[in-house]
Amino acid sequence: MHNAPPTLSTLLASDTIAARVEELGREISNDYEGSDLLLIGALRGAYVFLADLARAIETPVTIDFVGAKSYVGTESSGAPELTRELLAPARGKDVLLVEDILDTGRTADMLLNYIREFDPASVDMVTLLDKPSRRLPEYPFEPRYSGFTIDDQFVVGYGLDYEERYRNLRDIAILQLPDDQAPQ
Ligand code: IMP
Ligand code: MG
Repeated sequence: MHNAPPTLSTLLASDTIAARVEELGREISNDYEGSDLLLIGALRGAYVFLADLARAIETPVTIDFVGAKSYVGTESSGAPELTRELLAPARGKDVLLVEDILDTGRTADMLLNYIREFDPASVDMVTLLDKPSRRLPEYPFEPRYSGFTIDDQFVVGYGLDYEERYRNLRDIAILQLPDDQAPQ
């Protein structure tokens, strides 16, 4: 018997995302005018957002990536792992961690602490999506910039994956697994 495919329903269309990313870019350009801004994208989910956001920022920036892995299927695995180290010198820079989605807060907490070890002048975070209802009490932080607040639903597209698929969708869609494949 074949498994039924997951269903996708559009939550945020590409033009809605593009307009919001432009706004974030303008806000960041104003706030960081004259500073030495380093954008650090969290791989792999943030690669699409970072590419668009960096081009919406008009002040000079440098760019690097860190790697983090926390999800297995649609369930957070608990302890996030650092899978790629920072290569750019971050000391003395104004750092913005660029995340695709802020969920329990574990990954961002791990990455922000890791980045702080490099003695940057400041560290803040921009996330495209925020699911505040999922935040664990241990990680109560608010991102300095957030694109969209969403409900507790599993989403894919615009960089976000389910088992490494769907990252290339232009829209962000809610992914629903057939009942027999839902996580137990
Ligand atoms: P946290 O550590 O629980 O905050 O999880 C953050 C990471 O989990 C994100 O960087 C994503 O990679 C992944 N994640 C959380 N929610 C979703 C989702 O709805 N779709 C796809 N990935 C997600
Ligand atoms: Mg991610």
